[in-house]
Amino acid sequence: MKNIKITLLLLTILLITACKSDTKNTMTSKSVSAESKTYNAGKKVYLDNCISCHLPSGKGVPKAFPPLANSDFLENNREASIHAIKYGLSGEIIVNGERYNSVMAPLGLTDKEIADVMNYITNSWGNTNDNEISVEEVSKIQQ
Ligand code: HEC
Repeated sequence: MKNIKITLLLLTILLITACKSDTKNTMTSKSVSAESKTYNAGKKVYLDNCISCHLPSGKGVPKAFPPLANSDFLENNREASIHAIKYGLSGEIIVNGERYNSVMAPLGLTDKEIADVMNYITNSWGNTNDNEISVEEVSKIQQ
């Protein structure tokens, strides 16, 4: 399983490098529809990896697991949210005025899975994001 993940990650990196060399990187923003591939792939990642804490409703559990639905943290901290999913998050954060001081371990997802799940959570439960998160954007976020 781990080997497959590593192979997939390497393939993704290869693909990104291959694409970079012959296509120009245009900075156009793109909204994510509920029919899009990234949204549906992200939903699956969410169901497999996130619902145990953040719940199917995205509402989390008061005082223990912060909400993703209408989360001001998620809305205003795009990079930090990607960073949290990629590398884990611990220490004090304030989400919608509530204090959380807990730990989210890194989940071992590929950059593609992180981009997909970000596109899912930023476009679910009333959240909207008209600037789709790309695999390249995730890959640029370093520890
Ligand atoms: C084991 C429980 C657990 C799992 C599983 C989990 N999280 Fe978290 N998550 C947390 C906790 C706890 C925090 C707050 C950490 C802190 O207090 O510093 C958090 C914080 C966050 C935040 C930033 C705060 C907010 O509410 O906006 C985001 C975004 C997030 N998680 C997304 C995800 C995604 C996406 C997944 C699945 C890929 C996931 N989490 C899986 C427990 C979890």
